[in-house]
Amino acid sequence: MPTIKGFSKLSKEAKIEWIAANYLGSDPQAIDFLKSYWHNDAATQKLHDEFIENTITNFYLPFGVAPNFMIDGKNYCVPMAIEESSVVAAAAKSANFWLDKGGFHTEVIDMEKIGHVHFIWNGSDANRLQAFFNDIHQKFFDHTNHITKNMQVRGGGILSVELVDKTAEEKGYFQIKATFDTCDSMGANFINSVLEEFSKILRNEIETTQLLSEDERKVQVIMCILSNYTPNCIVRAEVRAPLSLMNDGDDMTGEEFAEKFCRAVRIAEIEPYRATTHNKGIMNGIDSVIIATGNDFRAVEACAHTYASRSGKYQSLTHAEVKDGQFRFWLDIPLALGTVGGLTNLHPMVKMAYKMLGNPNAQELMRITAVVGLAQNFSALRSLVTSGIQKGHMKMHLLNILNQLEATEEEKVKIVDYFKDNVVSYSAAVEIFCKIRGIEVPAVASAKSK
Ligand code: MEV
Repeated sequence: MPTIKGFSKLSKEAKIEWIAANYLGSDPQAIDFLKSYWHNDAATQKLHDEFIENTITNFYLPFGVAPNFMIDGKNYCVPMAIEESSVVAAAAKSANFWLDKGGFHTEVIDMEKIGHVHFIWNGSDANRLQAFFNDIHQKFFDHTNHITKNMQVRGGGILSVELVDKTAEEKGYFQIKATFDTCDSMGANFINSVLEEFSKILRNEIETTQLLSEDERKVQVIMCILSNYTPNCIVRAEVRAPLSLMNDGDDMTGEEFAEKFCRAVRIAEIEPYRATTHNKGIMNGIDSVIIATGNDFRAVEACAHTYASRSGKYQSLTHAEVKDGQFRFWLDIPLALGTVGGLTNLHPMVKMAYKMLGNPNAQELMRITAVVGLAQNFSALRSLVTSGIQKGHMKMHLLNILNQLEATEEEKVKIVDYFKDNVVSYSAAVEIFCKIRGIEVPAVASAKSK
């Protein structure tokens, strides 16, 4: 297959033609197909084109909503963008379960972001570097004022700047570690700009200081970058209810259900294999809100999993207990989110999501997002310790199977009705589909379903 130089300089049409000619067997239908996903309003499409380099078309994800989320006494209909069949249904089910039990409670514990200038200094006495650093400490604030003044007006800015000695782990390795309040923005650009300015200040000051010898006046800055690990930008979401209310019609009592539920959480606290799937379920909810609200789900994922490993062992992000006749279930999760900047003021669907949520600030979005993660985990565990996960999941996945089989709308209605009283599986769906169509069931119904 050919390579190409200067691809990014081609027009969008030329890019598509080149791809079709070289990678899609010169299929004219492939060109039409790609273009069929363009937005019919040219200005909206141009906006999307300019989000990234080499846009050739759009990639759809369903944008769903989970209503009835009562959070700190306020009702929300939460937008979620995700492809997995059962996620929105599970969130909505959990929201309904907790609606008449006081809903969800949240607390934003802290909002601190963090970044580092990683540098090498090969002097033999770190105390001398520390003394020099103390001498210039205020300059990190004063000489970045041109970058930080707007953030300061909004109530944020640089919170702290310190020197960290990492030489025990790597010869000559030091850090300028800084913490920030970036208010309602996620803050990546702000933090990185400040850090790059810090590195200039460090180099300029060290080269001219009289506090260090000539040999000590050399520093090599390796990189300046925010950390996506933000353990102090953290929110707690919680539910609680008397055990008597935890019986939701299953054949277990509230006590039995709560006890089994707490065991399931405990298993995810002690067993990393289970913790990974358990946390994945939490992230089903979190990521879908993060995507719908134009935030950086890769940053949130990376941070969540580092936080889940903070004890040295990968563990559950949620916890549960039964105490004094009360069931309590909570999630602590670092969420560095923004409601201004980035895509938030640009992407039309993101703007719609914010409107739906009543234009929350970053703290409120942290609360909502954490709640959806907790709700998701509650639904998953509730199914796992009662009916099992497949019953609900496969019911939601049924339409995907029927779409794969190219069932007509009429056939879908009949098949969905049939599965009201029957267990859904790929082969059962193929069987009933073939029966309704009057065709032979294939010997091996190849399972394409997840
Ligand atoms: C599936 O996407 C997520 C679950 O596996 C989560 C869990 O097992 O807790 C259902």
